[in-house]
Amino acid sequence: MRASGSGGVVADQLSLGKTSPDTPPPPGRYEAETAPAVCQGTIDTNWSGFSGSGFCNGNNAAGAYAQFTVNASAAGTATLGIRFANGGSAARTATLVVNGSAGATVSFEPTGAWTTWVTKTVTVPLNTGSNTIRCDPTTATGLPNVGYLDVGAAA
Ligand code: GCU
Ligand code: CA
Repeated sequence: MRASGSGGVVADQLSLGKTSPDTPPPPGRYEAETAPAVCQGTIDTNWSGFSGSGFCNGNNAAGAYAQFTVNASAAGTATLGIRFANGGSAARTATLVVNGSAGATVSFEPTGAWTTWVTKTVTVPLNTGSNTIRCDPTTATGLPNVGYLDVGAAA
């Protein structure tokens, strides 16, 4: 920068850097790769289409879970959206364990490709404040790849 003769400032060069993502995540989104989430497997980035910085590739084993710790502003029934990709040929099933109590069984159908991500919706009871939500696979194939959990307001 330099001052011009009339006292103004002339910029010879100006560079702008982007500091925030194009689209901020919606409220209530919890990425599977971000603590305090727990992934019993590896955090991978090899299949495109995930959000955030990666996804949870759970070990192919029964009980190899993905766990989220989420906040609810009120107790009640909340709608969850579980983002996943299942490039295998068979559905993978899991028990949802909410605050230590086993609840619904969820089936994650094949999505056709590991790069095709879809959202499975399910309702669970939540307490006010902090809650743990664990996706506990029931068969030896384990979970599908899991991207994030969306938690809607409890009603
Ligand atoms: C492949 C794929 C993984 C996936 C795994 C599975 O190895 O690359 O992303 O998790 O299959 O079957 O679970
Ligand atoms: Ca896996």
